[in-house]
Amino acid sequence: MTDDNLEPRSVRASRTTITELMIPSYANFGGKIHGGILLSLMDKVAYVCASRHSATYCVTVSVDGVDFLQPVDVGDLVSLKASVNHVGRTSLVVGIQVSAENVRQAIVKHTNTSYFTMVARAEDGRPVVVPPLVLESDDDIRRFVTASRRRRLGFRVRQRMETYREKFRFDDRTKAALEGERCVIANTAGLQRR
Ligand SMILES: CC(C)(COP(=O)(O)OP(=O)(O)OC[C@H]1O[C@@H](n2cnc3c(N)ncnc32)[C@H](O)[C@@H]1OP(=O)(O)O)[C@@H](O)C(=O)NCCC(=O)NCCS
Repeated sequence: MTDDNLEPRSVRASRTTITELMIPSYANFGGKIHGGILLSLMDKVAYVCASRHSATYCVTVSVDGVDFLQPVDVGDLVSLKASVNHVGRTSLVVGIQVSAENVRQAIVKHTNTSYFTMVARAEDGRPVVVPPLVLESDDDIRRFVTASRRRRLGFRVRQRMETYREKFRFDDRTKAALEGERCVIANTAGLQRR
């Protein structure tokens, strides 16, 4: 199962947690924490986790499943727990669980779980092979299989959308696709050109 003679590494070895207190300057005009602040923290923890596993510099290539389920408040202590869920040849999927704790009331809420695909890079920018993953628990196995499936589905969706973009025409299907949508066509030039 080894690739290019790289020693497999456990999920445990690169598990990473970042904890940060949400200060007033992180808030939006509604008084809640900006989604971008959380995304930046997720990117950081994904970078550390992926670089620990691969022992290389890593870059973010894709982000999946960023649905903010609950707002985060100023004063909350945000924890981001990251672990490598899957490795391909040069890419790694890092799963990140984000929670926010109201420290005075000791209430912890789960805000989101997201998946960052990172690619290991050499000094010259070329993707490099990453070590295989040692799966030590049922959770490790479940996450690996689920991530592998999500990755394959992602490739298929990207391919189909690419074909759709290339083949897009102003035709009756365009009109049908707009039925029931909350939009108004202000310039019908495209539809008239067909
Ligand atoms: C990441 C990068 C090095 C990949 O380069 P590339 O020439 O596409 O390399 P490859 O086609 O060999 O792909 C490398 C890996 O990334 C994966 N990959 C590429 N695009 C992907 C995508 N959209 N989603 C998920 N995985 C992707 C490939 O499947 C491959 O994985 P594998 O080796 O495990 O099978 C290049 O796209 C890059 O530098 N992007 C900018 C990254 C960056 O700067 N991020 C910071 C945010 S600004």
